[in-house]
Amino acid sequence: MKKLEQLYEGKAKKVYATDDPNLVIVDYKDDATAGDGAKKGTIRGKGVVNNKLTNNLMKMLAGEGVPTHFVEELSDRETVVKKVEIVPLEVIVRNVAAGSFTKRLGVPEGTVLKIPTIEFSYKNDEYHDPLINSYHARALGLATEEEIATITNYAFRVNDILSKYLLKFNIRLIDFKLEFGRLPDGTIVLADEISPDTCRFWDATTGAHLDKDLFRRDLGGEEEAYQEVMARLLG
Ligand code: C5P
Repeated sequence: MKKLEQLYEGKAKKVYATDDPNLVIVDYKDDATAGDGAKKGTIRGKGVVNNKLTNNLMKMLAGEGVPTHFVEELSDRETVVKKVEIVPLEVIVRNVAAGSFTKRLGVPEGTVLKIPTIEFSYKNDEYHDPLINSYHARALGLATEEEIATITNYAFRVNDILSKYLLKFNIRLIDFKLEFGRLPDGTIVLADEISPDTCRFWDATTGAHLDKDLFRRDLGGEEEAYQEVMARLLG
């Protein structure tokens, strides 16, 4: 397969066309942003960690019946994925209060929620990814009722599978963000990434952050934390 022209450059990834119209190549960068782009920096080695972790977790999830865009890892930073039309929703599942949930609702960080929750944000830079509900998503034509039902079902399944899986490595899954895409036939698949950029991982014994909050909150140690997650999961 040939890597052709760059189609898109995001905050953490570049996407390239290939000679197969149904496939693209994702190239993971070390660039990190936080606070809606207000903070910019680099987390050395992050691209490699996020590429490898995402692929490993997507393969594991596919084995458990959650369809994904993953096709083939090409190199430390590059992966072939199915070309999808991204559903413009950030789908966030939470088990424990943290981040924007604590700020919005005044619940102390670390509070275990009585049930896992789901929320949707409209992927829209101009309006800073506003929180919306499923009726807004339908009203705006972002997704159909059936697609939202499918996405919700997959998101909670990912939460169940991933929470149990990570605990084997002494990692608590606090919350995470997923994105989904549509294949040309309309099938919904898990897309984007699953990494310390997009999940909150806490050490199950010490509660130490093993994720991008170290960077977001200027706590330091983010490079080591990303390597630690990769070492635990991939050996
Ligand atoms: O900031 P907030 O508490 O809403 O984030 C919830 C979860 O979603 C966190 O795991 C965070 O890493 C992830 N997230 C993300 N990309 C965003 C917003 C949140 O990956 N743009």
